Amino acid sequence: MIIAETIQEVRDQVRAWKREGLSVGLVPTMGYLHEGHASLVEESVRQCDRTVSSVFVNPTQFGPNEDLETYPRDFEHDCALLETKGCDLVFHPSVEEMYPDGFATYVEIQSEMPKQLCGKTRPIHFRGVCTVVSKLFHIVEPDKAFFGQKDAQQLAIIRRMVTDLSMGITIVGCPIIRESDGLAKSSRNTYLNEAERKAALVLSQAVFLGQRLVAEGERDADRVVAAMSAHIAKEPLARIDYVSAVDGMTMLPVHEIENDVLIAMAVYIGKTRLIDNFSVKL
Ligand code: PAJ
Repeated sequence: MIIAETIQEVRDQVRAWKREGLSVGLVPTMGYLHEGHASLVEESVRQCDRTVSSVFVNPTQFGPNEDLETYPRDFEHDCALLETKGCDLVFHPSVEEMYPDGFATYVEIQSEMPKQLCGKTRPIHFRGVCTVVSKLFHIVEPDKAFFGQKDAQQLAIIRRMVTDLSMGITIVGCPIIRESDGLAKSSRNTYLNEAERKAALVLSQAVFLGQRLVAEGERDADRVVAAMSAHIAKEPLARIDYVSAVDGMTMLPVHEIENDVLIAMAVYIGKTRLIDNFSVKL
C-alpha cells in the first residue's frame, strides 16, 4: 500500500492507473478507523480496480468549541487496517498541504438542507465537509466515492453537490455498521466511559423502536419521533440535541411516514455528541 502525503504523489499514481484503464474508488475518512470505515473500503475494493482512502482530520468542518484538538488519531493502526482490507493508496496530507496560505475558496450549498438537523448546532460544518470533499475529488478524480449512511445528512449533501457541480463521480451510500449490542460504530465512541457506553445504547434502541413502529403500520412521523424521544429521555446521561423526521433528499421536516423519509437524531451522552438514524423503506 502506498502512503502519499502530497497532492502531486496522489495525482501521479492515479493518472498512471487511469492510463492502464483501471477504475478508481475513493473512501474519504478522518482516521481512527473502525469496521464502519472498513466496510466502505471493502465495497470500493469490490466495485473498483484500485482504492484510495484519505485520512485527514479536516479543520474547516469543526466549530470553535468542537473536538478538533482532541479528535482521536492513530495513523499506524489506520494503515494496518486499510492494508488488510485491500486499499491501494492512503492519502495522509498535512493541514498546510490541503489549506495553503491565503486559502479562501469554499463550497457551500445555498439551501435549507445544510441548516437542518446537525446544521442547526454546527452552522459551518457542512461547508467544511463540501469544501474538503470537493478538494479530494479534484485531487483523486475517482470514478466512485463511498460514504456511510451513518452520516445521512452528509451523504445527501454530497449527492446534491455532485449533481449541482456536474462532478461526474458516482456516489455510493453504504449501510450503518453497528457493535453487537446495536451502538453505531463511531470514532467518537472512544470518548465514552463505561457508564456512558451503556447509556449510549438509547440511540440504537430508539432507532429500532422507530423501525418497529413503522413496520407495525404507524404513519404519523410526529408520533414516531415522540416515542423515540421519550425512550431517550428515560436515560439520565442522555441529552437530546434533535430527533427529527425529514425528507431523505431535502432534509426538510415531514409529518407523514413515506418511503425514503429519514428519521435522524443527535444525542449528547455526557459531553459526547453521537448520531444515528434510519431511512424508511416501505
Ligand atoms: P469520518 O467520520 O471518519 O467518516 C468517514 C466515512 O465513514 C463517512 O462516510 C461515514 O459516514 C462513514 N462511517 C462512519 N461510521 C460508520 C458506520 N458505523 N457505518 C458505516 N459507515 C460509517 O465523515 C467524515 O469522516 C468526514 O466528514 C469526511 C467525509 C471524511 C470529510 O472530512
